[in-house]
Amino acid sequence: MRRRPQRQRSAQARDSRADDHEVAHLYLLHGVLLLNYTGTCLPLEIPVQVVPPYVATVARGGLSHAGALVRAHVPASGRVIVLTSPRVRGLWGKTLDASLRKDGLDASVLELPDGEEHKNLAELAKLAEAMVAASADREALLLAFGGGVIGDVGGFLASVYMRGVRLLQVPTTLLAMVDSSLGGKTGVNLAAGKNLVGTFYHPRAILADPDVLATLPEREFRSGLAEAIKYGIIGATDLFTFIEQEAAALRACRPEPLEQLIAACLQEKARVVAADERESDLRRVLNFGHTLGHALESATGYTRYLHGEAVAWGMIATTRIAIRIGRLSEAQGTRIVGAILNVCAPLPALVDDAGLLLRHAASDKKTRAGRLHFVLPVAIGRVEIACGIDEAVIAAALQDAAAIAARAPVVR
Ligand SMILES: NC(=O)c1ccc[n+]([C@@H]2O[C@H](COP(=O)([O-])OP(=O)(O)OC[C@H]3O[C@@H](n4cnc5c(N)ncnc54)[C@H](O)[C@@H]3O)[C@@H](O)[C@H]2O)c1
Ligand SMILES: [Zn+2]
Repeated sequence: MRRRPQRQRSAQARDSRADDHEVAHLYLLHGVLLLNYTGTCLPLEIPVQVVPPYVATVARGGLSHAGALVRAHVPASGRVIVLTSPRVRGLWGKTLDASLRKDGLDASVLELPDGEEHKNLAELAKLAEAMVAASADREALLLAFGGGVIGDVGGFLASVYMRGVRLLQVPTTLLAMVDSSLGGKTGVNLAAGKNLVGTFYHPRAILADPDVLATLPEREFRSGLAEAIKYGIIGATDLFTFIEQEAAALRACRPEPLEQLIAACLQEKARVVAADERESDLRRVLNFGHTLGHALESATGYTRYLHGEAVAWGMIATTRIAIRIGRLSEAQGTRIVGAILNVCAPLPALVDDAGLLLRHAASDKKTRAGRLHFVLPVAIGRVEIACGIDEAVIAAALQDAAAIAARAPVVR
């Protein structure tokens, strides 16, 4: 799969909402990054055609050039606030800091402790107070530098602080690079459930540097691969084939295929998000594997699975549902399940209690008018939304998935 250059494709795909001048302006901004770029290969750029449009850049070594990007997006008088986690700061903070300094930027760094339990309103309030203390006004730019938790909290904070300040997403986990940094969904958790308070707020730009993934724990990395393969199954056959063919290289975290993978996923997500910014029907295809995935996470108190691991099981069981109701051929289903396991296994064992999972799924905010919806694959690269699936079919599909796990060494 050779997907560069991205610009030709984007010109064809351009929709009427983002006019040519705006897009040209964005490329000029990113030209700053390109001109300063001294890496071994050119960055990949993905236009995101929302209002206003912006560009996601995938660049090996790009973190060392983040200063140029920030400079292009913040007024001279604007404060730069970096939100990060202690772990990411310890591993990559110096690289980012050096790059900001090179461009004459003196940033204030705010930390959110690691862990989903800190993604809450109390921490958000503390961070907002810290922004005041750092003299951030409406001209400020917030750079979210971390995994999906930092991206979600940083995005939310940027959207509500002084009714909205500039936001850049610099994701550092694979999951955040391929999925959560793009799309504009921000938020925090309540005691009653995950992501129950939030906003839609797009960043001015995304910068994903695959080199940063070298320090990511393997399990986190595989969890990100689950979200990546989702994009192949829901709408990009060539991406799915690429993942099938490059599975070993991807698992080994080889930079070249990884960079291509991230760019292809962002391109697919950008396509879906541009067509449906506020998650009405079209965008719901992104929830493939998530109806059961979220139920698995919730039923196990968010302790057994990483998000992508639960989604991997959710995708496998949902694929079996599609086969059982005659919407997907056994051959295509086998290919889908094989590819998921190839990049995501070993996984924590599956909870296959259908009653338990359906109770948890029913209280999920993705349930509409009390009816459970499933995004079903009907072919590799094509999905449809189905509701009213018989509980017995779901139970049988979960048993199929458990049998798959029992046959192969896929469970940790
Ligand atoms: N907004 C969206 O559209 C969207 C989509 C999917 C998930 N999410 C959210 O994303 C969150 C999960 O994100 P995640 O999987 O990135 O987890 P995470 O943000 O919790 O990061 C996982 C761990 O990896 C560490 N880490 C990050 N980058 C690292 C690196 N390069 N090297 C070493 N360690 C690193 C972090 O400090 C953290 O301890 C959830 O809160 C979920 O709700 C949001
Ligand atoms: Zn997800």
